[in-house]
Amino acid sequence: MERRIAEAKEKFEKIVRQQLKRVELMKSQEDFIKYDELETIVIGVVGGDGIGPAITHQAQRILEFLLKEETEKGKVQFKVIEGCTIENRAAVGKALPDDVLAELKKCHVILKGPTTTPQKGDPWPNIESANVAMRKELDLFANVRPVKVPELNIDWTFFRENTEGSYILGSQGFEVTEDLAFDFTVATTQGTERIIKSAFEFARNNGKKKVTAVTKANVIKTTDGKFLDIFHQIAKDYPEIAVDEWYIDIMTAKLIDEKRRSEFEVLVMPNLYGDILTDEAAELQGGVGTAGSSNIGKQYAMFEAIHGSAPRMVEEGRAQYADPCSVIRAAAMLLSHIGYTEEGKKLTDALDICTVTEKKLTLTGRDTGATGEEFADYIMETIQKL
Ligand code: IPM
Ligand code: MG
Repeated sequence: MERRIAEAKEKFEKIVRQQLKRVELMKSQEDFIKYDELETIVIGVVGGDGIGPAITHQAQRILEFLLKEETEKGKVQFKVIEGCTIENRAAVGKALPDDVLAELKKCHVILKGPTTTPQKGDPWPNIESANVAMRKELDLFANVRPVKVPELNIDWTFFRENTEGSYILGSQGFEVTEDLAFDFTVATTQGTERIIKSAFEFARNNGKKKVTAVTKANVIKTTDGKFLDIFHQIAKDYPEIAVDEWYIDIMTAKLIDEKRRSEFEVLVMPNLYGDILTDEAAELQGGVGTAGSSNIGKQYAMFEAIHGSAPRMVEEGRAQYADPCSVIRAAAMLLSHIGYTEEGKKLTDALDICTVTEKKLTLTGRDTGATGEEFADYIMETIQKL
């Protein structure tokens, strides 16, 4: 037993040292990259697993269509990154193979399809999620997920902390004995400040009147307590913006409270709560397949579908019928992020027309509906009419 305790201490010490280093790194971080100052913006395209390559390819076609002139001028360049598949990740026993990471770092922004996340008991080794690893490796600290349902008067923007919380040590938890297992949750001043500031800056720049903090600070006292303290400190720099705070449990209830939910505008929260709450919110918009997600850091940014890789669709030969709308929405966010706001808006408008108002084609996930390619064509035709 003493040996086990000593081993646990050693593991914990390693984690503490690693996180202290991370804090130092965050302190010395450069400022946000300026895309308009770049000669060429490199857009990386990562297909991922399952239906990922099929849907991501459709989003890429649309981006190429919207950025045709820019690509010809050399201002934008596409780079398809192969190899971020579960088979490769399992073979090297790493969430992100070194060559994939090196390629990712040659891009400025990345469009990513879903990747399979192994869990205990799966046929795959239980390696860390490629998503989570990418967010960590590229320091993509802000996971921004907008959810809009105009007919219900819902217009929310979630700012989910993306590089710490209960996710950061995902694969570093340990079993001290067969009866005792630990995972960890981490909050740093720098990590908390940057996500909360991003939420307030977004609110200020987009005419939003309220920012809501979501925690469980009454129970998770130290880390969530820190999150909430920093939230109130930063709020003082934004006197024009109202603030409120909710606990995650009651927040999940308030999102379906028809009398209250329109009051929320910008919501900021630690990693795990953001994961849960954004799936719930996306469901109100029509399902996780309808939502896009951006992962923003100072040097890199990654845009992705928020749904899974649906391996069964591929096994049943239905990948071409998979709904590409989530990753196309992510592509629209990518366009706005790198400064092509007008193109981004056109794409969002076309998506709204094709999926809500006009809906000339439907996607059913099988041969009773349109293929992803037909749907992408429909979106491009719609853009041309705008
Ligand atoms: C998401 C996903 C990921 C997460 C999974 C795939 C690891 O659910 O992007 O919300 O938990 O962050
Ligand atoms: Mg999720």
